[in-house]
Amino acid sequence: MVLGTLLVSSIAYATSEVNVYSHRHYDADKQLFKMFTKQTGIKVNVVNAKANELMKRLEKEGKNSPADVFITADVGRLYLAQQKGLLQKVDSKFLNETIPEKLREKDGHWFGLTKRARVIVYNKDRVKPSELSTYEELTNSKWQNKILVRKSSNIYNQSLLASFIASKGKQEAKTWAECIVNNMARTPAGSDRDQMKAVVAGVGDVAIVNTYYVGKLLNSKKRNEVIVGKKMGVFFPNQDGRGTHINISGAGVTMSSKNRDNAIKLLEFLVSPKAQSIFAKANYEYPVNPNVEPSDLLKSWGSFKEDATPLYKFGVYNTQAVKMFNEVNWR
Ligand SMILES: [Fe+2]
Repeated sequence: MVLGTLLVSSIAYATSEVNVYSHRHYDADKQLFKMFTKQTGIKVNVVNAKANELMKRLEKEGKNSPADVFITADVGRLYLAQQKGLLQKVDSKFLNETIPEKLREKDGHWFGLTKRARVIVYNKDRVKPSELSTYEELTNSKWQNKILVRKSSNIYNQSLLASFIASKGKQEAKTWAECIVNNMARTPAGSDRDQMKAVVAGVGDVAIVNTYYVGKLLNSKKRNEVIVGKKMGVFFPNQDGRGTHINISGAGVTMSSKNRDNAIKLLEFLVSPKAQSIFAKANYEYPVNPNVEPSDLLKSWGSFKEDATPLYKFGVYNTQAVKMFNEVNWR
């Protein structure tokens, strides 16, 4: 009898797995997947690649894809994956009750796992936080030749402009983008980190970046990057109005999933209090679980009011945002 039970459970263990396509490649994630396996007996197999490559692969593999879970950054990409029919509906009481409504898709096609803010950073030597207020105020002539921000081909900027379209309408959004182009310190180039390096090099005074890149600089192995991080002040714009633009890293269960229950269990695990702080901390992001505190570094920047717009809207307005960027010549 005992032998029989053992045999059955070992077979169940051997066939119990979940296949993850993820753009994240952090040691903390590996550690979390191990914790999940220990807790549930479900083995986690991970394929790491860039988000766009993973999405192409999912499309090519179609129904035969071995993937169960797709993890990527920015709601713009999650929305696109949903539009392409790569994700399926999930109805999980735990996910629905734990993740704030605006951070997940209403039918469960995708769920936010971590949160980031797209903020204004400034050179503490040259700018006082009292000089800053809103994204809109950056269009003031005071900031002429002072603003650094990356290219419009970047999804983070597309989602930011889409958030303007969602809350202020097309015309105001376009005017904002046009005026930001006029105030740029240079033609957009490089990453969010490169914008901060340029601020410290004196190319401009302020930059628009995702919060976690400040964390990455401060924790870099390169001394010059740590110096750049230390010179940056983090400012959360629009606190007296609609709030600061936020976005997510998130995940969905793939349309092709053959281990659907395991996939849902993995998502629930990643949103659990035990996993959330580790998962978010790995990339200096905010937990989506409201019962979990952010890291000390993030707390040191202070708490802030978030834009309440449901994030799927940034996906809805993505095409308009891309078109608008081209019209105002935001490279
Ligand atoms: Fe990023």
